Amino acid sequence: MKKLLLFLLLSLIVILFFPISNLIGLQGHNNPIPVVSGRSDNFVRVSQILQNKCVDCHSPDMTRMPIYSNLPIAKQLIAKDIKEAGARLILSKKFYSGEENITPLMLARLESVTQNGSMPPTQYLLMHWMDNLTADEKQSMLNWITEERTKLPWSQDAIDTLKGEPVQPLPLKVNLDQDKVALGDKLFHDHLLSGDNTLNCASCHDLTRGGTDQSKVATGIRGQQGSINSPTVYNAMYNITQFWDGRAKDLQEQAAGPVANPMEMGAKWDDVVEKLKQVSEYQKDFAKLYPEQGLTKTAVTDAIAVFEQSLVTPNARLDQYLRGKQDALTVDEKQGYELFKTNCASCHSGPALGGLSFEKMGVKQDYFTLRGDSLTEADNGRFNVTKQEKDRHFFKVPVLRNIELTFPYFHDGSVDNLTDAVRIMGKIQVGKNFTNNEIGKIVAFLKTLTGEYKGKPLTHLTTEDIK
Ligand code: HEC
Ligand code: HEC
Ligand code: HEC
Repeated sequence: MKKLLLFLLLSLIVILFFPISNLIGLQGHNNPIPVVSGRSDNFVRVSQILQNKCVDCHSPDMTRMPIYSNLPIAKQLIAKDIKEAGARLILSKKFYSGEENITPLMLARLESVTQNGSMPPTQYLLMHWMDNLTADEKQSMLNWITEERTKLPWSQDAIDTLKGEPVQPLPLKVNLDQDKVALGDKLFHDHLLSGDNTLNCASCHDLTRGGTDQSKVATGIRGQQGSINSPTVYNAMYNITQFWDGRAKDLQEQAAGPVANPMEMGAKWDDVVEKLKQVSEYQKDFAKLYPEQGLTKTAVTDAIAVFEQSLVTPNARLDQYLRGKQDALTVDEKQGYELFKTNCASCHSGPALGGLSFEKMGVKQDYFTLRGDSLTEADNGRFNVTKQEKDRHFFKVPVLRNIELTFPYFHDGSVDNLTDAVRIMGKIQVGKNFTNNEIGKIVAFLKTLTGEYKGKPLTHLTTEDIK
């Protein structure tokens, strides 16, 4: 009732003031910022669209308030819009004047709202009907997004017609110091890294099980049950930061964590370094590859991080398709890909289909109510790192490569099959109840993401292959 009254009151204000403010030019989109020279025609068009129709909510340095914005209720609503809009996308002057490039994540978000026609918001369009994006403008946005993606090193391997896709093929070859890779491989599989010599990294990140332990939560030293699901180490180099809550800035910093974590490998780094020094082969390797520092914690974690950069799983069927093999995907899988692009790629994009941002678990509907169990500390997600309320229940978007092997799903490992995971994602992240047919197609698509390691499909990789 209260909401309805508010709405009526606001409508009245708008009806009274909008035409006047418009007539006297208070809302006029005058004085657009010129685009820096050398930018493409597509960008010039997009810059105009953004300045005319988007910056009012998305650009703190360029907000033009309509005349009614000082009225009590309108003021609050506008402030709320600007706050929420700014939390998702900042269109800075540097960006729309062409001084600064936009990130792949922002491209994916812009593509999603353009395709869904969800921006500017419907409520706003009631008052500013001319601000709806025209078909021409939509096309300009999409053309520019394709143009930007074509410039990414990620899209090099894709055929020309598919360089504008939100997903890019993984590289067939990565250039790394192969001696360091071999040393990191040895360390990753060495039990000396745990307090009682029972666990290695592979205990929880088994390369024959999609780089995970395929268990709900990790089991640490002396059988201790952890609090969170083990993510895959394959393609982890594509994550902006490491861990579900992003508390490690890179792979090297990450590798220091589990060794000293009393719930995981339960060791002390000084002891580990001493134990490794007893092994003459390590003595030799480190002296050769890390002549300046020798065998130290920093050198050990560096070698592991280099090894992890080699854990890229190329040549999945989707990659073959993106590189031009038309029949690499079936009709159903292609339809699944289309559904994925319009519903999921705003969060799951890039070569690993994830890893680029933190997102709320439960955008459209509360996940934890749906799950039922009581909340744990791990459920706080990113909040545990930043202590900011706005980050509660935010998690790093997981990579979806090899997803058929990395069950059970989600940070709590609460879902053990892909069908349920996709149904839940549809409901809580997209706000859609997909039909079984649609879910089947998305799952079929997700299964085309299984790649190769050491030239063998991950589904067929054995302990022998990784020796
Ligand atoms: C009246 C204010 C308003 C205007 C004008 C507006 N937006 Fe938004 N925008 C919002 C709000 C509020 C949100 C956050 C809530 C949401 O996603 O619906 C948002 C979110 C977004 C997001 C993030 C969506 C996501 O999935 O996270 C993008 C991208 C975006 N807007 C682009 C645009 C573009 C492009 C335009 C111009 C064509 C535009 N917006 C115009 C208010 C606005
Ligand atoms: C006892 C099980 C266990 C062991 C042993 C273990 N990990 Fe993990 N690993 C986990 C869990 C659980 C997480 C997620 C923790 C979190 O996000 O809070 C994780 C996270 C990671 C991540 C981050 C991936 C991502 O998507 O954010 C990497 C990389 C990783 N581990 C590598 C290693 C390496 C290298 C070692 C050995 C030095 C190792 N792990 C040992 C359980 C383990
Ligand atoms: C708003 C961003 C967002 C959208 C849209 C989204 N996801 Fe997710 N997805 C996430 C986040 C965040 C997680 C991890 C959440 C957690 O575990 O608590 C996740 C997890 C997953 C997982 C489990 C991965 C794992 O390793 O446990 C799958 C599978 C998945 N998403 C598929 C999809 C599909 C399919 C769609 C489209 C129908 C979709 N997602 C849409 C953000 C999103």
